[in-house]
Amino acid sequence: MSNTQSQNCTITLDGKTYEFPVIIGTEGEKAIDISKLRDTTGYVTLDIGYKNTGATKSAITFLDGEEGILRHRGYSIEDLAEKANFMEVSYLLLKGELPNKEQFEEFDASVRHHTLVNEDLQNIFKTFPTGSHPMGQLIAMISSLSAYYPKALDPNRSAESKNRTTLRMLAKMPTICAMIYKKRMGHPVVYPNNNLDYVSNFLSMTFKHVSEPDYQPDPVVVDAMNKLLILHADHEQNCSASTVRLVGSSQSNLYASIAAGVAALWGPLHGGANQEVLEMLEQIKADGGNVQKWVDKAKDKNDPFRLMGFGHRVYKNFDPRAKIIKKTCDDVLNKLGINDPVLEIAKKLEEAALTDPYFVERKLYPNVDFYSGIIYRAIGFPTDMFTALFALGRLPGWIAQWQEMLNEGQPIGRPRQIYTGHTPRSFVPRGERQ
Ligand code: ACO
Repeated sequence: MSNTQSQNCTITLDGKTYEFPVIIGTEGEKAIDISKLRDTTGYVTLDIGYKNTGATKSAITFLDGEEGILRHRGYSIEDLAEKANFMEVSYLLLKGELPNKEQFEEFDASVRHHTLVNEDLQNIFKTFPTGSHPMGQLIAMISSLSAYYPKALDPNRSAESKNRTTLRMLAKMPTICAMIYKKRMGHPVVYPNNNLDYVSNFLSMTFKHVSEPDYQPDPVVVDAMNKLLILHADHEQNCSASTVRLVGSSQSNLYASIAAGVAALWGPLHGGANQEVLEMLEQIKADGGNVQKWVDKAKDKNDPFRLMGFGHRVYKNFDPRAKIIKKTCDDVLNKLGINDPVLEIAKKLEEAALTDPYFVERKLYPNVDFYSGIIYRAIGFPTDMFTALFALGRLPGWIAQWQEMLNEGQPIGRPRQIYTGHTPRSFVPRGERQ
């Protein structure tokens, strides 16, 4: 990263000229550092939706939306999805390097050590009505973890405490997600089996049934699930990661910060889109499968309908994750011998949209959520669990972003505003108001 004199930016305001440094990232990304703007000029910037605002420097993930590039700590998402497993990628995001054999074994064993959740947590969990949305339960359950680990309430207590909290968070998330699934199905909870790897353990806690004590997850499914989790593992300063950083910047504990990130993810414009995509595809199927009709609806500005799983704030060429997921989707359905008619509808919809000038001009391409739901469904997950699975994948990224923010001692996040309300006016007693 550099900022050279030749790269300064000059701003003229009220007849006065000010200079601000230009910061250049390791991949050549450029930013005007306006951190002294208000102090020196009295002005703030206005950027609703943060479309042009870099909220932080970060060494975790690089994303080039124009070129469709995504790299974690320098490694391409294509390589990671193909060659690594989810625990390796988690280690990479959290610690900055891929683990060697010993490092991996130690990390993996430490995560396995913490998979159980306190039995009392089950009591809180049992009070949710059956059928309540998994994301609402997930937020509450993650937040509840703070009650069981009071030492974690001070996020700066010690490096050792931070590390233990991280391991606990990573280890208990699959257990909680599986419990939510079991409750939804009305089945008894299956406890973790720490002889299994992270993904197999999650699948076992989810799909193992009392009548099947010898249940072994299908290696095809384990592989697909590893890929899906890796593809969701981090995505730099997106809505939920920014939320985690913002909440954490007030020195809130990790559990509270992650619960807030899960809440941000829930919305249909973010992670909630994967559930919406499948519901949309089902709706199109039930409506006779006329994809053009739905493409036209999405283009109609008087119709609130949007093509879910299309468009991205940053990717304006293609989403590299969507490419990998589309291929994985074909592979998994083939290997599992599943013929899902919504896959055909999804492909037709993608083709129709990609050749339509409305989508081409606005650079709207399928995003990570477009095909992931079809794989989740083939594996056996109900639609309303999809966003919780996204959260499971995104967890190491959120933690890495939270840690980076704390380790660099970043200040509390507190944006400014441009006030557009009333100017001062006199108070009128209640009986005298018009
Ligand atoms: N269907 C139809 N039109 C769309 C869509 C869509 N899915 N997405 C964007 N547009 C149109 C907008 O109407 C707008 O048109 P206009 O210029 O004529 O007004 C233009 O494309 C730009 O869209 P914005 O909403 O301004 O783009 P923004 O960057 O703010 O939003 C977002 C990005 C939220 C992802 C948007 O594309 C969207 O709503 N997509 C559908 C939901 C979705 O799939 N979300 C998941 C995103 S990936 C993730 O979070 C994991």
